Amino acid sequence: LKRGFATTSVKNVIKNVTVIGGGLMGSGIAQVAAQAGQTVTLVDLNADILKKSETSIQNSISRVAKKIHKDDATASQKFVTETFSRIKFNADPLQNLAEADLVVEAIVENIDIKHKLFKSLDDAAPQKTIFASNTSSLSIGQIASVTKRKDRFAGLHFFNPVAIMKLLEVIRIPETSEETYQAVMAWGKSVGKTCITCKDTPGFVVNRLLVPYLAESIKLYERGDASAQDIDTAMKLGAGYPMGPLELADYTGLDTCLFILDGWNKKYPGNPLFESPQILRKLVKEGKLGRKTGEGFYNYKK
Ligand code: NAI
Repeated sequence: LKRGFATTSVKNVIKNVTVIGGGLMGSGIAQVAAQAGQTVTLVDLNADILKKSETSIQNSISRVAKKIHKDDATASQKFVTETFSRIKFNADPLQNLAEADLVVEAIVENIDIKHKLFKSLDDAAPQKTIFASNTSSLSIGQIASVTKRKDRFAGLHFFNPVAIMKLLEVIRIPETSEETYQAVMAWGKSVGKTCITCKDTPGFVVNRLLVPYLAESIKLYERGDASAQDIDTAMKLGAGYPMGPLELADYTGLDTCLFILDGWNKKYPGNPLFESPQILRKLVKEGKLGRKTGEGFYNYKK
């Protein structure tokens, strides 16, 4: 095994986690940490947004509780109450930071906003605190560049829905220390995930393979080589994938697919794998973003 790619057997030492961004991903990350018995502070911009995070976390914990304690309503309720009580909701990212062993950032995918946040966190957080970003398409090294703790910085890339998806991609930048790496690997395991390690390359493993595959499927459809249904059926029955590529693009959000492709295309011009299909741009322009807007490659309004 090459150095740095071995799996860890280190015990988890991270007990206190701050998650910044209480949207789709941050809420899920806060939930799995709380389910693992850790103390969590979830931060977002204001109380209204945090209220929504609270509701979505409570619903998701209830679903997990029903699965774990199928025939025991009392135990199920206890699990929900106890897990939920470990999460504090806060609009100030600097509060509770003194206790944080780990900060996981899951805010909007914008480098300037992430830089501003990490700069202020770096000035305020104790020496011991490890920083991580859940970014899908930005460079971890570039995000970490505004901090003085690159040795205590890593990428922790979760998958949606966080409570269900088993994978965690752990991204090491060249400066990430062995100690930090071992600590985040052990933490990932403690929150129930299987960790894989990847260098700081565009899309890491999953999106680097998946996004060009989705783009290629959209181009196949765009050329009229096959219908959307037939492309999806082909990949489900012929390749054994649980979802077809066009269904998956609709599920992910066509705006997200386009945003990732455009970002990579700008940064790595000339790579045909990162070129976005015309029809993807057209659908996004028309506000047809997939499932979330009721229409994308398929119509969900019916
Ligand atoms: P989202 O839009 O659902 O949530 C982002 C949250 O961050 C919002 O609630 C927003 O109010 C909050 N926010 C924005 N700026 C903030 C600031 N300065 N301080 C505190 N909170 C702030 O977005 P989502 O989908 O949860 O994505 C978050 C991050 O996770 C992005 O970096 C994205 O690339 C990454 N990601 C997304 C995945 C997905 O499937 N949606 C999968 C894996 C990673």
